[in-house]
Amino acid sequence: MENARLQAVFTDVLDGLQQVVRRHRVTREEYRLLSEWLTEAGTQPNEIALLLEVLLSSTVDDVNFAVESGTENSVEGPFHVPGAPLLSAPYVLPMRPDEPGERLLFSGTVRSADGTPLAGAMLDVWQISADGGYSHFHAGFPEYNLRGRLTADEEGRFEFLTVVPVPYEIPKEGATGRLLAALGRTAHRPAHVHLKLGHQGHRPLTTQIYFEGDPWLDRDAVVGATKASLVTPLVRDGGATAARCSYDFVLEPVPEPALV
Ligand code: BEZ
Ligand code: FE
Repeated sequence: MENARLQAVFTDVLDGLQQVVRRHRVTREEYRLLSEWLTEAGTQPNEIALLLEVLLSSTVDDVNFAVESGTENSVEGPFHVPGAPLLSAPYVLPMRPDEPGERLLFSGTVRSADGTPLAGAMLDVWQISADGGYSHFHAGFPEYNLRGRLTADEEGRFEFLTVVPVPYEIPKEGATGRLLAALGRTAHRPAHVHLKLGHQGHRPLTTQIYFEGDPWLDRDAVVGATKASLVTPLVRDGGATAARCSYDFVLEPVPEPALV
């Protein structure tokens, strides 16, 4: 970080912390507890990263990826793996032969802000399994289970088969979990499908799609990640072999560079 910017940001962070201490008359004992808790977090692998992900990443993304008319962002989270398999149509996310869970047919479109279909738009999709694991991060899953990349067709449409993801509890054994519990907050995240979308000439989008009726929608452990515009119905019509959901994504064009 450039030194002048570091000075400016640090000054404000310190100022904010000092104001909290003064406003709440933080005691010496509370200060000691904070110091111990931060030390505990620092000795646990990935705990500080998780803490920041839970408390701050959504705000950082909102500042950097705000949209005027495109689909809203939602945090990438810690479970993306680059280089997921490039799938061929008809798209089915890689899954175990005995993959548990209800099948889900996820369809939709990818368009530019003016409504033009974005043929060939790339979707990189990843999600948790119905038995609660992200491949790569939880033991016992094939490498790219429920991860894949696919493209939208000539009319910007896409469709892929997967399983209905389950709500998930973020790791809560560490300092982050202890903080959430002490605050009476849940460690749950609502069920979601993660996506990264890209198309030439458009700003890349990292987001998540959530489902209506999920009990954790209004108290996501990850502050600010769940946005009303990203919630879609999960449709189950009797007799169908799979639940369905759909979402129409909008990518914002990158502004043309000014001619000189
Ligand atoms: C997730 O989407 O799985 C996630 C996001 C932020 C923190 C932890 C998990
Ligand atoms: Fe997730």
